[in-house]
Amino acid sequence: MNTQAQESFLTGFHAGRPAVTTEAFAAARAAGARTGYEVLRDRVTGRRRVLDLGCGDGLLLELLAATPGRRLAGVDLSPQSLSLARRRPALSAAALVEARAQRLPFRTGAFDACVSHLALMLMADLDQVLAELSRVLAPGGLLTCAIGAGGGGTAYELFGELLPEALAGAPAGRRMPALGDRRARDPEALGALVAAAGFTGEPEWETVTVDMSGPPERVWRALSGMYDLAALDPAALATLGRTFHTRAAAVTGEGEDLDCHFRLRVLTTRHP
Ligand SMILES: C[S@@+](CC[C@H](N)C(=O)[O-])C[C@H]1O[C@@H](n2cnc3c(N)ncnc32)[C@H](O)[C@@H]1O
Repeated sequence: MNTQAQESFLTGFHAGRPAVTTEAFAAARAAGARTGYEVLRDRVTGRRRVLDLGCGDGLLLELLAATPGRRLAGVDLSPQSLSLARRRPALSAAALVEARAQRLPFRTGAFDACVSHLALMLMADLDQVLAELSRVLAPGGLLTCAIGAGGGGTAYELFGELLPEALAGAPAGRRMPALGDRRARDPEALGALVAAAGFTGEPEWETVTVDMSGPPERVWRALSGMYDLAALDPAALATLGRTFHTRAAAVTGEGEDLDCHFRLRVLTTRHP
């Protein structure tokens, strides 16, 4: 696992697309009409000092800031995503810091809760990340993370069929490196890591499926923000987009939505 290669891929990708995740997920709602961001927001009700790990352009922090009296902080590798976060008026008092999750620039016991939306599974050296979270959370602190657990529906099926051929033509040097620590995607392994880092509360798991269905153009905009597609040059990406639309038109009727959903596995645990 080459941590530096992974992190430079992520910073390079987000330099060009600093709001890519919120563009795809801000409007994607689960049963009960909440977005994944709102699910995490609601997990930390009553917690005053909250850290967002891998905060991106700050949407989740903005939701958290709607509760008066909160002290908020966000860390991210991407200076461009952080600049967007800093433009949100609600975050004028938040500490938005360019830093690695593996080395958090905060004092011990600084937070009552940590949230993380679609970021933990991208982080290398997960033991180190969890040790840092354990350090910066105060006794009784809560950790709640939404981890990507894959997409479904016609759109993802189609995308999965088209992707291998599109990537086969991409230069090897542009391919996406394996990202993160694969134990983040295995609930048992992640539960063991979290326990080893000192989170003694029994981990709670919830699978939240968010609906990203819509007109094929909108679904494509969301899918085309996936890290895998960084390997394609603009012409190859445009060709893939055209093929996707042609194939989508063959399975949806005129004006019909294309079925697309994404699963978030939400882990919640407590510090002793
Ligand atoms: C898929 S984006 C999610 C952004 C945001 N949480 C959201 O859901 O809108 C993942 C974010 O995690 C950040 N990230 C990945 N690894 C990181 C690390 N080791 N330390 C800090 N940030 C990291 C990336 O820079 C990126 O902004």
